[in-house]
Amino acid sequence: MFPLQTSKPETYSMRIRKAVFPVAGLGTRFLPATKAIPKEMLPVVDRPVIQHVVDEARAAGIEHFIFVTGRNKGTIEDHFDIAFELDHTLASRNRHADLALLADDLPGAGQTSFTRQQAPLGLGHAVWCARELVGDEPFAVLLPDMLHHGIEPCLKGMIEQHTKTGANSVSVYAVPMEQTPSYGIIDAVPLADGSQQIRNMVEKPAAGTAPSNLAISGRYVLSPKIFDILGRQQKGAGGEIQLTDAMLTLLETEKFLAHVFDGEVFDTGTKIGFLTANVAYALARPEFGSLARSEIEKLLARRQNT
Ligand code: G1P
Repeated sequence: MFPLQTSKPETYSMRIRKAVFPVAGLGTRFLPATKAIPKEMLPVVDRPVIQHVVDEARAAGIEHFIFVTGRNKGTIEDHFDIAFELDHTLASRNRHADLALLADDLPGAGQTSFTRQQAPLGLGHAVWCARELVGDEPFAVLLPDMLHHGIEPCLKGMIEQHTKTGANSVSVYAVPMEQTPSYGIIDAVPLADGSQQIRNMVEKPAAGTAPSNLAISGRYVLSPKIFDILGRQQKGAGGEIQLTDAMLTLLETEKFLAHVFDGEVFDTGTKIGFLTANVAYALARPEFGSLARSEIEKLLARRQNT
């Protein structure tokens, strides 16, 4: 069970305690797998994608997990709750290791909130739906499609950057230039301390127009002022209310730093990204990584010989 918060909330005013997980997307890129189950519940090795992302937030010190869901996403809520029948059966069979595994992943009482995005109006709109739950304090956003695999959790480094500077923070990674139309792209200038200050952002630039190849990788630390801007409900790329556009407006009055993640980023919203994430996470598992490697090598060798 996640550790319980013991100190008083008012002592936290600028600390990042809350994270928003927009999980309302339909997952049409993964049909038929996502016809009856949310895409966030697809497993990478043996944990749902959303569990990996919640783990990252937890490792960064997040205490309140806010899920912006939609219709047919009930299993996400069930996943972060006690499954009484399962626990009871495991206990009666003395499966204590499995019980401990489940208990470890379980948020404490009152540490999760679920709200619904009632219409698919875009990422900016999904984040705005969390405004009452976040309140007037800086907060994190984690897009569950994007897995960040490295020694240091991506969000942890961003929160440290925010604590030092008070600035908004956006995670980025380098993508091949031809992939820039699929992402939010930033333009940044290096500062004397080695960090990068963002001076422009564009959501899904047309081919050949991106200001750089640094794509937003789906982790954000944001000032609550973003909610006022999102509340104007202005539509951008794809006719949707875009978080990137709201950040660009906030950039006129607040500083934004880019956080270049020191690790691998997998876009599990694409089939190849999902597949590669499974391979990478399996190879990194101490208990069967070397077995996974030898099975993959055998597969490749067989195909080379045919
Ligand atoms: C969203 C963001 C985009 C970001 C991307 C990462 O786009 O709007 O800026 O680069 O996530 O996956 P989406 O994938 O929801 O179209």
